[in-house]
Amino acid sequence: MRLPDEQSRLQISAGPEHAVSMSKTTEAGRVLAAEWDGRYTGWSMETPAAEPNPALLAEAAQLRPGRALDIGCGLGSDAIWLAARGWDVTALDVSQVALDRAATRAEQAGVSVAWQQSRLEDAAVPPRGFDLVTAHYPALLHSEGRDAERALLASVAVGGTLLVVHHADVDVETAKAHGFDPADYLDHDDVAALFDDTWEVRIERGRLRGRPAGSEGQHTHDDVLVARRLRRALSDAPADPAAPA
Ligand SMILES: C[S@@+](CC[C@H](N)C(=O)[O-])C[C@H]1O[C@@H](n2cnc3c(N)ncnc32)[C@H](O)[C@@H]1O
Repeated sequence: MRLPDEQSRLQISAGPEHAVSMSKTTEAGRVLAAEWDGRYTGWSMETPAAEPNPALLAEAAQLRPGRALDIGCGLGSDAIWLAARGWDVTALDVSQVALDRAATRAEQAGVSVAWQQSRLEDAAVPPRGFDLVTAHYPALLHSEGRDAERALLASVAVGGTLLVVHHADVDVETAKAHGFDPADYLDHDDVAALFDDTWEVRIERGRLRGRPAGSEGQHTHDDVLVARRLRRALSDAPADPAAPA
């Protein structure tokens, strides 16, 4: 018999075939979802970001549209921007409240995105299934098993790009006042340490953001990581049958 924590459910969202997946429902996932749903309920329709992120505009503009995965998509601004440019987008977030707002915004923009409610660590995203995987300020928690780290890299196709952006100017006391202790979350150094020679990695620290972010406009600079998967590593999971080798 399965314990409730181990139950799986079929998540079918309108959109591309590869977005249909089995995601686990775990206690940790439920707790995190409730936490983020609570935050979004207290925020306006425009928070955290109602515009696509500047680093996405800069880094994705020159890429040929293919399959994209937006991790921690929030209100969906990046996913909507990508979909409007011809990308086949799956957007993942642990918060259903955020996804409902994102879906409304996508409908208003006239674009189609496959919205998927799951904690990244529980999501069954196809191994190497996406040409672009993007995560802006993803707020991923440390764990003993390094689950978030592994999940972040796993879905990038060979030849595909991972774009991860963190705030370069996190003030610990301000963050704590907003309910986040930065020590609990993966930072840019944690992500930068993940890559071996099967990746080509470019890191830019403290890039001027152009448009300030944060509820008080406190974030003006980004740390930007762009990694291209050059080839498979021996330790990689078997490929998604629908994905290129
Ligand atoms: C700081 S917000 C950033 C949202 C959006 N990317 C942006 O740039 O505005 C972090 C988002 O990640 C989601 N999130 C946090 N931890 C997650 C996890 N483990 N798996 C999936 N989504 C997560 C939250 O619900 C939230 O929407």
